[in-house]
Amino acid sequence: MSVLRFGGFEIHRSYLDGPAQLDLLAALREVVAQAPLLAPKTPRGGKMSVRMTAAGQFGWISDRAGYRYEARHPAGMPWPSIPEPVLAIWDALSGVDRQPECCLINFYGEGARMGLHQDKDEADFDLPVLSVSLGDDGLFRMGGAARSDRTQSLWLQSGDVVVMGGAARLAFHGVDRIRFGSSSLLAQGGRINLTLRVVT
Ligand code: SIN
Ligand code: FE2
Repeated sequence: MSVLRFGGFEIHRSYLDGPAQLDLLAALREVVAQAPLLAPKTPRGGKMSVRMTAAGQFGWISDRAGYRYEARHPAGMPWPSIPEPVLAIWDALSGVDRQPECCLINFYGEGARMGLHQDKDEADFDLPVLSVSLGDDGLFRMGGAARSDRTQSLWLQSGDVVVMGGAARLAFHGVDRIRFGSSSLLAQGGRINLTLRVVT
């Protein structure tokens, strides 16, 4: 394990070892069985390439009505609770007393990407966002508080955890592409990213 820093982004390389990744994956499969992955629409009606679901008091939703947190899956049920191994990562790395209220689960299949954006639908930007990578490698782009700021990119690998706090809390970031099939964690390929946030 090692820690890299890029302008406030803190990257914990190989934070989760192989067995911990499998544990986490098993817990996530239970969440997805209860709250199926969705193919969200952007507010302008485009289709996002990433599929999403969530655990916790709130899930983050995107559709024609905009971006927001909702207490229920669009199919009507409350989101499942955040699995214990996810909470353990937050407790170890967040540095704050509050517990995460949303664990967004992003699934990147072949060709999926996520455009440069800020996470800013939460009430308190003093609290960090934690991001956990599982499965295939993803090319993570990190910028500054303005979209036009210089960016740096880094391949995130299965087991890496990124803490976005302080100067990085409102920094632009995104995933340009994944290396489909680069990891053997998911038999069918793909990348999972969890983002943990306090919402209220
Ligand atoms: C996100 O910013 O929502 C996802 C980041 C990632 O997939 O690594
Ligand atoms: Fe984000």
